[in-house]
Amino acid sequence: MAESDKMWALVFNGPGQRSWEQRPKPRVQAPTDAVVKITKTTICGTDLHILKGDVPAVQKGRILGHEGVGVIDSVGEAVGKFKKGDRVLISCITSDGRCGYCRRAMYSHCEGGGWVLGHLIDGTQAEYVRIPFADTSLYAIPKGADEEALVMLSDILPTGYECGVLNGEIQPGDSVAIVGAGPIGLATLLTAQFFSPSELIVVDLDDHRLEVAAKFGATQRINSGKEDAVAKILALTGNRGVDVAIEAVGVPQTFDLCQRMISPGGRIANIGVHGKSVELRLQDLWIKNITLRTRLVDTESTPLLLKTVTAGKVKPGMLISHRFKMNEMMKAYDTFGNAQKEQAMKVIISAD
Ligand SMILES: NC(=O)c1ccc[n+]([C@@H]2O[C@H](COP(=O)([O-])OP(=O)(O)OC[C@H]3O[C@@H](n4cnc5c(N)ncnc54)[C@H](O)[C@@H]3O)[C@@H](O)[C@H]2O)c1
Ligand SMILES: [Zn+2]
Repeated sequence: MAESDKMWALVFNGPGQRSWEQRPKPRVQAPTDAVVKITKTTICGTDLHILKGDVPAVQKGRILGHEGVGVIDSVGEAVGKFKKGDRVLISCITSDGRCGYCRRAMYSHCEGGGWVLGHLIDGTQAEYVRIPFADTSLYAIPKGADEEALVMLSDILPTGYECGVLNGEIQPGDSVAIVGAGPIGLATLLTAQFFSPSELIVVDLDDHRLEVAAKFGATQRINSGKEDAVAKILALTGNRGVDVAIEAVGVPQTFDLCQRMISPGGRIANIGVHGKSVELRLQDLWIKNITLRTRLVDTESTPLLLKTVTAGKVKPGMLISHRFKMNEMMKAYDTFGNAQKEQAMKVIISAD
């Protein structure tokens, strides 16, 4: 194999095992594919779940990563929107654009794609990545855009906005509580402000993350490890509870908090990936006219979010806490894997 046919990549070698190794450079396999040279990528909490062995569909030898921006290196003959040299944003969701789910903008469940990158096919934590259905899975990067900030658009910003803000139907003047101040909870906090809620209460166990939330627009912060979050929220809302409760952690305790803090007519939006069943307090909720919603991110809001980020209306670059070079990928994982100690939020890994 010629030197130029190889690339460096972060490879999952089974639970607890990852390595930075040389792999064959991907090539166009289908006419609708593009190969993208990665310029910036990042690591998601989901990658850590995979490394723990929580996502058994990921096979040994898989290159991880589902977020990033880059430059088109080659395209298949059916790709019409992009050519070599174009700068593109990679969506964490791949969509064929024509199945029944895609026709309803539910790209997360696309029959030809969905969440496949760094899951069922090789992902973005590498020098190059193959993107199926390039025309409907990539976005052109506007000239002069802040590409680091755009990396937050591959997954976390659409997730916070679609699964949290839109599913919570936040209206002007609403009181909103976001449980979990990780990258997803904070992306929810940033995009919730499109709708001018009156209260944005953020709940977490980590004081540093709560401080960051205050800088991002939280009106109240509650450390639920130190104080009774439900009692405090009832006190803040005239005993009514919040209009919208957003779960951004994925454990039974935080889902329970959301059920106990919701007001009559309220909306609970669950974002967290849950590994265990939760107790539904239907005996309390049946009378409250509430709505409970779940969603896997579709990334249908990416064009809208791209405009708001380019216009500076929302600044997801604020979520970046650390920067690394591509050949420091293992170090980037060590840092992100110790988020609390390292005070890490999103890490950016750059090719240059
Ligand atoms: N629905 C989707 O499409 C989708 C997409 C991406 C991520 N997710 C999920 O969203 C969730 C959040 O992602 P993230 O990357 O921000 O995760 P994260 O682990 O970085 O953040 C979770 C936060 O919750 C806090 N926390 C943990 N236990 C808590 C408790 N008992 N009470 C209060 N706070 C607690 C932690 O301190 C941390 O700040 C995860 O479950 C992730 O898998 C869902
Ligand atoms: Zn589809």
